[in-house]
Amino acid sequence: MLVAKNLVKKYKSENFSILNKKYFTALDNISIEVPENTTLGIVGQSGSGKTTLAEIVGGLQESTSGQIFYNNIEINKLNKEQYKEYRKNVQFIFQSPIESMNPYYKISKILKEPMECILENYKEEEAIEKITKMLEYIDLDKSYLDKYPKELSGGEAQRIAIARALLLNPKYIICDESVSALDVSVQAQILNLLKNLQKEFSISYLFISHDLATVKYMSDKVIVMKEGKIVEEGDTEKVFLDPQSDYTKMILKYSKLKEA
Ligand SMILES: Nc1ncnc2c1ncn2[C@@H]1O[C@H](COP(=O)(O)OP(=O)(O)O)[C@@H](O)[C@H]1O
Ligand SMILES: [Mg+2]
Repeated sequence: MLVAKNLVKKYKSENFSILNKKYFTALDNISIEVPENTTLGIVGQSGSGKTTLAEIVGGLQESTSGQIFYNNIEINKLNKEQYKEYRKNVQFIFQSPIESMNPYYKISKILKEPMECILENYKEEEAIEKITKMLEYIDLDKSYLDKYPKELSGGEAQRIAIARALLLNPKYIICDESVSALDVSVQAQILNLLKNLQKEFSISYLFISHDLATVKYMSDKVIVMKEGKIVEEGDTEKVFLDPQSDYTKMILKYSKLKEA
């Protein structure tokens, strides 16, 4: 299980004065749990701290205070072996997949590289076999291996990014606005792909989006964030049917207006 307790993140303000505080609190005492084989959704408007939370939980940046536990061990107490296991088991799918790919590498190399770096006893032939199988799951044919990132559409690039994350057999995938940049019809395809892969590989998602509809579709439980704080959390169905906080009620009303 992936657990975060009492996370606080303060960023230094660049132009502070007597009126402006020296620090800006991006995360204010956030605790979350991502149990195995479930999806925890996080919604909140831009600037509410979602990406900061994602990056801290995934070990890409440090919190000011608070703790993160991976399988009941605090991550800064993991030994080298356990830390490697954590990095392998917690993968990311970002909003702009093409930006996360080296433009000079062909897709075959982009898919192979993380395995080469992280897997013990890496074998080239096994990697190629795994990649070939994975292409079937993400519904792309072998010809894509010879392409460069710029030759892919947004949806194809996101499929490749998903494959790259999955090739390490992670237990957790942090999806930060993973479909937000895609056309609505492509969004639906990627969301369904993620759901199918969850069933196939028993993965947990930390699914982050400013879009209520996609979070509702994906999540078992949901957390609503506002200005670095959790304003509401619970089973997705309950939160969407019977929201308790004024803020959740407000954003739900707004999103219904938008759909109408
Ligand atoms: N590296 C940083 N330095 C200073 N402020 C930051 C940094 N990263 C994010 N912030 C600020 O923290 C707040 C939360 O940002 P972020 O986590 O990206 O929110 P979200 O993903 O919900 O849009 C924003 O006000 C943002 O400007
Ligand atoms: Mg963000």
